[in-house]
Amino acid sequence: MIKIDNVDKIFQIKKQNIYALKHVNVDIPHPNIVGIIGHSGAGKSTLLRLINGLEQPTQGTVEVLDLPVHLNQAQALKTLRKNVAMIFQHFNLLKSKTVFENIAFPLRLNHLKESVIQQRVEKLASQVGLSSHLNSFPKHLSGGQKQRVGIARALATEPKILLCDEVTSALDPMTTHEILNLLLTINQEQGIGIVLITHEIDVIRKICDHVIVMSEGQVVEQGTVDQVLLQPKHPVSRSLILEPITLDAIGSNTTSYIRITAIGDFAQHPKYESFALNTNIQFQMIHSKVERTKTSLYSQSILAIDGEVDHQRHFIEKLQQHQAYVEKITPTVSLDAA
Ligand SMILES: Nc1ncnc2c1ncn2[C@@H]1O[C@H](COP(=O)(O)OP(=O)(O)OP(=O)(O)O)[C@@H](O)[C@H]1O
Ligand SMILES: [Mg+2]
Repeated sequence: MIKIDNVDKIFQIKKQNIYALKHVNVDIPHPNIVGIIGHSGAGKSTLLRLINGLEQPTQGTVEVLDLPVHLNQAQALKTLRKNVAMIFQHFNLLKSKTVFENIAFPLRLNHLKESVIQQRVEKLASQVGLSSHLNSFPKHLSGGQKQRVGIARALATEPKILLCDEVTSALDPMTTHEILNLLLTINQEQGIGIVLITHEIDVIRKICDHVIVMSEGQVVEQGTVDQVLLQPKHPVSRSLILEPITLDAIGSNTTSYIRITAIGDFAQHPKYESFALNTNIQFQMIHSKVERTKTSLYSQSILAIDGEVDHQRHFIEKLQQHQAYVEKITPTVSLDAA
């Protein structure tokens, strides 16, 4: 669906080169939902603007739906605009137009017949649950309803790819949940590929198949959601994904701290007590959370374990035999306690 090869994007500000993207390689199969995460300024929006043809790479190639976007040819960009639509954090609706006219806007630009427009807008409004609001103006809508208008308008031209830049950031958790479900339905029922930027790992967990982690213009990690969320490798991914652990006080010098990531049955029914008994160690659960991605149920727990070094090693080996991923960690101690 989207193939980005060796892309640099350089902006020049006061004769200084700003690398918004550096050696970026991305291969996104169709029709997946792909999430992009990264700190502010990492290059996420720039990457999205390359995909919809709003920016051209300084170097490298960008192919979207087999179209060579980087060549900046009018015909390819025209086809691209028809097939790639976008929704935004602040909705970007036309304030003086009704919901109907907002959704109809791209269809009018394409000079479609009035009867076709009428039919298509009604269908789109029903799809996004806004049939009874067609004559309302944006100022009378909630944030979630405005985003639904944005989605209906984006779908009006029957695109193959939908790009979303932080589209749930301005919404409350309940509305976020509803909008994510709508995006999931659009992907599953209409086969539309979705690329979304988010700051919320929960968004990635709930609806994405793949995830791309960006830092300072580079893709530092990418893979399936399960690969990256369960075992993030790069320090930036780890800081974004893993729960930070701060303790009031550190244990004795024989205490080790481990993070255990377990999937499936073992995640729901971990056998920490019996393993501890068998291996003659003591443990204290510091943190534990069960999470669900689209394909897996997994738990992530932090344990303080104490006992002889060999016994601790046996305990860890037992966990590993149950396909749990275990790593030793060094928790930070809160300043209040120090
Ligand atoms: N049109 C532009 N002109 C100059 N510099 C730009 C331009 N667009 C982006 N940049 C710079 O490129 C870098 C990446 O910006 P980008 O907007 O892609 O980051 P982002 O990951 O989307 O950040 P955020 O999470 O804050 O939205 C930043 O240093 C930014 O200042
Ligand atoms: Mg951005």
